[in-house]
Amino acid sequence: KYGLDVDLSKLQAGEQILVHVVGRPVAIRYRTPAEIAAAQADDDADMIDPATDRSRLRPKPDGSFDPRFLVFVPICTHFGCFVVGEAGDFDGWYCPCHGAHFDTSGRVRKPPAPTNMAIPPYKWVSDTVISIA
Ligand code: FES
Repeated sequence: KYGLDVDLSKLQAGEQILVHVVGRPVAIRYRTPAEIAAAQADDDADMIDPATDRSRLRPKPDGSFDPRFLVFVPICTHFGCFVVGEAGDFDGWYCPCHGAHFDTSGRVRKPPAPTNMAIPPYKWVSDTVISIA
């Protein structure tokens, strides 16, 4: 049984919400068209922890992918600081502790963070609702 259902139908582009699931913070961002385009355009860029934007999404019940919603753990993978949104050299997230930069897919683009921000276990249970483990 998954832990928390979140209805995303009221979110608007550029908004982000934070929930806690079993003590772990999970952020859900409704990405703007510019943020999605930037994330997809950089799929082949030189990265510390290479990943496509698509690989960081999960399919809806009909098998489609909705690139608007990025679900991630907003914690820097270096030493666990909370990241700051709409910040950094890639207009994604910035870690104020030691200066790591993350892009609009949550991928680390400048060290010292060694890996991308984590994608928590979750699944789409309808066209607008996700269930986070
Ligand atoms: Fe984020 Fe060190 S904890 S860069």
